[in-house]
Amino acid sequence: MEDKNIPKHVAIILDGNGRWAKNKGMPRTFGHKRGAENVVDIAIHAKNCGVKYLTLYAFSTENWKRPASEVDYLMKLLISFVEKKLAELMDNDCKLNFLGDLEALPSPTKKACKLALDKTKNNKSLFINIALNYGGRAEIVHAVKSIIDKGYESFEITEDLIKENLYTKNIPDPDLLIRPGGELRISNFLIYQIAYSELYFTDCLWPDFTSDEFDKAIEAYKKRNRRFGDIK
Ligand code: IPE
Ligand code: IPE
Ligand code: MG
Repeated sequence: MEDKNIPKHVAIILDGNGRWAKNKGMPRTFGHKRGAENVVDIAIHAKNCGVKYLTLYAFSTENWKRPASEVDYLMKLLISFVEKKLAELMDNDCKLNFLGDLEALPSPTKKACKLALDKTKNNKSLFINIALNYGGRAEIVHAVKSIIDKGYESFEITEDLIKENLYTKNIPDPDLLIRPGGELRISNFLIYQIAYSELYFTDCLWPDFTSDEFDKAIEAYKKRNRRFGDIK
């Protein structure tokens, strides 16, 4: 039976990889590698807790500003993530989905994303959305363009129509947004969808973010009183 105290949709900003590596005297890329290794472990743990949707911020529309060598490493890391983790995702009945403009990615990375989408398309236990070349503002611009292209008139514009034209179409809004890495900001993540999400920030860096850290966030969530503007 569904437990109402468990968030149905958890979103995580995967932050702190670079600092984690720097603290160990290692290059930033070492932190990205460790961070990627953490993803499926946390996803399986989330599934076992009863979470149905997990949305992970992996690369923002602003992350292209980073040195080309780091961007290149991240794009290749995605390919090796798919190669290494696809079997485990299949074994755990996880369905992958990507949020963002995949067309702008290098073609081998795009190909890996499409393979992962195709292989996992019939899985049902956990829906994992990876936000890649994702920006909340870019997503809203994309939604507005598609609404105009479909020929809607202004009187037909509703919140639901906007929702249906976001990358997160058919995905419920996040109940809980977790940001590891110590920064107290949203960094252009799901800005339309998190209007009523519960926010949880921790100094723990993403590569150190274990199942116990996840449980702490869930425990904090359970204590929240979600009123949605009402007085209950
Ligand atoms: C990983 O963390 C998230 C990505 C943008 C790929 P960072 O690379 O931002 O790590 P920090 O914040 O510099 O420590
Ligand atoms: C947010 O982290 C984006 C991802 C985790 C993919 P950043 O490290 O890019 O965010 P800022 O620059 O600290 O806001
Ligand atoms: Mg960062």
